Amino acid sequence: MKLFAAKDYEAMSLKAANIVASQITLNPKTVLGLATGSSPVGLYKELIKSCQSGQLDFSKVTSFNLDEYLGLPPENEQSYIRFMKDNLFDHININPDKINIPNGLAKDPHGECAEYDKRIVKCGGIDLQVLGIGHNGHVGFNEPASYFMLDTHVVDLTPSTIQANKRFFESEDEVPKKALTMGIRAIVQAKKIVLVCSGEDKAQILYDALYGKVTPEIPASILQIHPDCYVVADEGALSLIRKNNKI
Ligand code: GLP
Repeated sequence: MKLFAAKDYEAMSLKAANIVASQITLNPKTVLGLATGSSPVGLYKELIKSCQSGQLDFSKVTSFNLDEYLGLPPENEQSYIRFMKDNLFDHININPDKINIPNGLAKDPHGECAEYDKRIVKCGGIDLQVLGIGHNGHVGFNEPASYFMLDTHVVDLTPSTIQANKRFFESEDEVPKKALTMGIRAIVQAKKIVLVCSGEDKAQILYDALYGKVTPEIPASILQIHPDCYVVADEGALSLIRKNNKI
């Protein structure tokens, strides 16, 4: 694991975007794993700038998003497909046929999960996975559990995740209670991982995930065993790591 310090959110976003951009430049047919949440929005903004200035070409890129809420139609403002369109896809030259995101309206959500894993395998796996981290250590929507959930699966969101995500909805009642999420296998098998983490409110979980024991109780801790994982964090998120003299 390589840890990169950035002074603030903007610097973190730029550093992470440079890693993603290098990947796409070196391999225009990159299979990109993408995340939602506020952490990667700045990184996406930088990628949009590079694409619009002609420096970066997404036309041959394939993308797989980590997760989607179960039951939210794509036109719902809080659906992750809508989030991705607003924050990235609508502003770059990615081929819409190469965009993959779990279908939150699938009649058979479990079948949809199994099919999603097959699609990832068929594309040769993920070359570079972008990740954020939840306050409880979740990646995608892999919630803390007693074992690592390997496959794409339907998950019951924990009360803390529902609480954290209610800021995007009118009320807590409107936050979906279930989601479809890529499992730990596809994430860990990604050839390269870039985790972005910002803000002091993430300092404890970032410290625990990177320096605590590897445990499914903190799903992001699995990243410790990944051979090519980049963590790009700002000073707020790094505060506890610095305090413990880890960097
Ligand atoms: C959401 C997403 C995750 C994301 C996390 C953190 O629930 N499913 O992929 O990493 O929460 O979000 P944020 O970056 O807004 O803190």
